Amino acid sequence: MADRAVPRVRTATLEDEAAISHICVCTADSGGDARALYSRHDLPGLIWAVPYLHYNPSHCFVVDDGSAVLGYIVTVANTRAYEAWQHDHWWPAVEEKLRTFTPQSEADSNFLKALAHNQKPAPAFADDYPAHLHINLLPQAQGGGFGGKLMHAALDRLRADGVSGIHLGVNRENHRAIGFYKAMGFEQVADESAPIFARAL
Ligand SMILES: CC(C)(COP(=O)(O)OP(=O)(O)OC[C@H]1O[C@@H](n2cnc3c(N)ncnc32)[C@H](O)[C@@H]1OP(=O)(O)O)[C@@H](O)C(=O)NCCC(=O)NCCS
Repeated sequence: MADRAVPRVRTATLEDEAAISHICVCTADSGGDARALYSRHDLPGLIWAVPYLHYNPSHCFVVDDGSAVLGYIVTVANTRAYEAWQHDHWWPAVEEKLRTFTPQSEADSNFLKALAHNQKPAPAFADDYPAHLHINLLPQAQGGGFGGKLMHAALDRLRADGVSGIHLGVNRENHRAIGFYKAMGFEQVADESAPIFARAL
C-alpha cells in the first residue's frame, strides 16, 4: 500500500479480508474491543463480516488511509439469496474450518450459538427490507464522518441496483450505534434477540 494519506472510502476487495476480520473482532463487544473475550480472533468475522466480502465485494466498502484499512461496511442486496449461498457454500466451509475447535470462553460459546442462529432464515423483515448490512470502524476512525460516508456509499450502490429497502440488527446496549442509525434515517421495525432497524432506499 502507499504512504498514509487522507482516508478515503473505496470499494472493498478480497485482499481486505484480514483487515476486515481484524476490525470485526476489535469492535465485536457492543462496539468495543472483543479480542480478550475470544480464544480465536477470526470467530466474529466468520459470521458478521468476511462472508459478505466473498459473496459480493462490490457491495462492500472500506475506509483506507493508504497504509491501512480503518473501517468497513458490508452489505448484501438480497438477504434470502445470501442465506441460500451461505447454506450451500459458506456454512460448510466454516464447519470445516472449525472441525477441531473447542470453545474456551463464554464468548466462544456464544459464537457457536450465534452460528446456529444465523443458519436459520431471518424473519419477515428480510422480505420487507431485502438488503442488510454491518458497519464497523476502528476507534481512531470513529466520530469523524466516515461512518456516514461508508453508509452513503453502500446505500447509493444498493439503490443503483434497484434494491427497495435495507435492515440491520444492533445490540440493544450499543446506544452510540443506535443514535448513528437513527441519524442515517433508520427506524426500529422489530425486536428479535436484538432490535432490528430498517429504512426504505
Ligand atoms: C457506529 C459507527 C459506525 C458510526 O460511525 P461514525 O464515523 O462514528 O459516525 P459519523 O461521524 O459518520 O456520524 C454520522 C452522523 O451520525 C450522527 N451520529 C453518530 N453517532 C451518533 C449518536 N450516538 N447519536 C446521534 N447521532 C449520532 C453524527 O452526528 C452524524 O450526523 P451528521 O451527518 O448530521 O453530522 C462507528 O462509531 C463505529 O464503528 N462504532 C463501533 C462499532 C459499532 O458499534 N458498529 C455498529 C455495530 S451494529
